[in-house]
Amino acid sequence: MRLVGIIVGIVVVVAGLAAAVTFLVFPRVSAPEMGNVVRTTDAARRGLYLANSVMGCLDCHSRREEDLYSMPPVRSAEFGGGFVFSREMGMPGTIVSPNITPGALSNWTDGEVVRAIAAGVARDGRPLFPLMPYHAFGTLDKEDIEAVVAYLRNVPSVRRAVDKTEIDFPVNVLIRFLPRDPEFKQRPNPRDSAAYGEYMVRAAGCADCHTQRDAQGNATGPAFAGGQEMLFPGRFLVRPANITPDQETGIGSWSRDQFIARFKSKTEADYRNTPAPKGSSNTIMPWWAYSGMTPEDLGAIYDYLRTVTPVRNAVTVRFEPR
Ligand code: HEC
Ligand code: HEC
Repeated sequence: MRLVGIIVGIVVVVAGLAAAVTFLVFPRVSAPEMGNVVRTTDAARRGLYLANSVMGCLDCHSRREEDLYSMPPVRSAEFGGGFVFSREMGMPGTIVSPNITPGALSNWTDGEVVRAIAAGVARDGRPLFPLMPYHAFGTLDKEDIEAVVAYLRNVPSVRRAVDKTEIDFPVNVLIRFLPRDPEFKQRPNPRDSAAYGEYMVRAAGCADCHTQRDAQGNATGPAFAGGQEMLFPGRFLVRPANITPDQETGIGSWSRDQFIARFKSKTEADYRNTPAPKGSSNTIMPWWAYSGMTPEDLGAIYDYLRTVTPVRNAVTVRFEPR
């Protein structure tokens, strides 16, 4: 009996120490950089483009018009946070996108905002849930991340409190190991269209939705082959399409012009006037956001997608009411 007691005691002490180390040492990333990001008009303009039309900041960090096609952000709530990713959607807890307007981030330095975006650590040292795509953002060009920050510093503040994220055990502990220092890489020259397109696809997170994943977000299917079930409880279920160049089940038969036209068929303003089709067949593909991408950038994305391995995967039932 006494031996068992000693062993249990040791196990408890070791577990306690491991927990203490985990919380003291992780997340392990460098201190934020000092000094402000460059705030030229060019930087702010580039940041506006990336934050609104490419990198999904506006998409995830706003409440959304669920009755409009592809759910554009609620007006005057842009970047105000409050998009809830719930347990019912398959999340390990209730993940709420925070308010990232100037009012909410007024005591954050530029360096702290850059670190949150590209390394996944909040001002107070809290690890961000990796739905925030900081791993991908940490591989982009530092200039692009800084441009987004330059732009965000001047958007209108939204004064509306949002709920706090609550993550279940053990995921709340495990995510402490995920943040890491960014490994910024230069943006490829647009003349190298496929390489530049790959960069834009990484910035836009196309593979996040268009690849089958487990609950932790790890890929369980071939990249870009689609089919992941995405559930909006009580509203709809949608499966992202196969966007590999497979002729029959992917977008292999699409021309470059058709691809660009699919994105440019409506403007963001049009989406604000387009109700979701009847039968709860709305989509979470942020068509309204990507409609702002330039034809050149969309063309480069197409060129890159032509180079990925074609996969036969028929995603026949795309929409199901729930
Ligand atoms: C796929 C959804 C998604 C996208 C895209 C996204 N975010 Fe986030 N972001 C989140 C979520 C969710 C959190 C909160 C995570 C948590 O609470 O652990 C977050 C956290 C943050 C934070 C930390 C703020 C705080 O108060 O803790 C900042 C800053 C941020 N995001 C900025 C951005 C910017 C800038 C972009 C675009 C470059 C962006 N995000 C794109 C979902 C997203
Ligand atoms: C938030 C999830 C999400 C993201 C991010 C996303 N998609 Fe989608 N996409 C979907 C869903 C869901 C569908 C299927 C419903 C529909 O057609 O809108 C879809 C459909 C498509 C289609 C239509 C295919 C067809 O056969 O009609 C194309 C093309 C496409 N996506 C390309 C892209 C590209 C390129 C990106 C990155 C720039 C991207 N998607 C990012 C969710 C997403």
